Amino acid sequence: MSAGTALITGAAGGLGSAIARRLASQGRPVVCLDLDQEAAQRTAETIGQNGGSAVGYGVDITDEASVHELRESLAGRSMLPQHMINAAGILFRGQLDTTDTATFRKVLDVNVTGAYTVTREFAADLASTGAGRVVNIASIAGMNGYEFTAYATSKGALVNLTRALVLDFWGKGVTVNAVCPGPMRTPMLNSAAMEAFLRKTPTRHIPSADEVAGWCAFLLSEEAANINGQTVVVDGGATAVFRYTEEEA
Ligand SMILES: NC(=O)c1ccc[n+]([C@@H]2O[C@H](COP(=O)([O-])OP(=O)(O)OC[C@H]3O[C@@H](n4cnc5c(N)ncnc54)[C@H](O)[C@@H]3O)[C@@H](O)[C@H]2O)c1
Repeated sequence: MSAGTALITGAAGGLGSAIARRLASQGRPVVCLDLDQEAAQRTAETIGQNGGSAVGYGVDITDEASVHELRESLAGRSMLPQHMINAAGILFRGQLDTTDTATFRKVLDVNVTGAYTVTREFAADLASTGAGRVVNIASIAGMNGYEFTAYATSKGALVNLTRALVLDFWGKGVTVNAVCPGPMRTPMLNSAAMEAFLRKTPTRHIPSADEVAGWCAFLLSEEAANINGQTVVVDGGATAVFRYTEEEA
């Protein structure tokens, strides 16, 4: 495993907290960042109680000044990150006729510009060891058209931001990859939705957030040093195939 502190945005959320716990369990110091300060600190405290090293911060990733202040605070605690997981995100369930421009902008602001702002602020720190990693949590909604317009647009943009950042970090020893989960087995998924997802998933398996966190951990490993600019889709093959009929396999 490559050494270094990891900063996780959205670390109070289902996937972000699973990633923070996973990376900390590998002995890596973690910075847990979320809009929800109390919940971010709870994630960090839980990690601490289990023997890990973690700090929690409440920061809005769309606020550039706050992100800059965060960096100053982390520098003072010798916790500047060499790795970054951009997991913060918001979903708006709307289409063209139900998503006004302000809402569309807000979704892009958090899901794309937020990831850009945090990565930009810590770019020199990510490059400081020659083995830095950025992992952007996109979605299968970013691979195809998807019914929630702003969300799909933002996740598609995050996938291509991932590729563009490869050029920005050219020769600096930082890899940038995107992970595109399909639905994950979290308390948010009700049983009716689960049944529908299972019918559309060739593996007949819906992963837990911990399982997807394992993929992120792999991308931070030494074995993954030459995986760069890639999009890892974790959806059991659901978006790799289509059926013209509704027949069940
Ligand atoms: N849940 C799924 O099935 C699924 C599937 C594919 C992709 N994803 C993506 O995975 C990521 C994590 O999703 P999740 O299921 O854990 O959702 P979640 O809602 O549990 O977590 C998202 C976290 O982001 C934080 N956040 C939102 N706006 C922020 C801001 N401006 N600044 C800082 N933090 C902010 C929220 O407070 C929340 O804790 C998201 O990017 C989401 O789009 C989720």
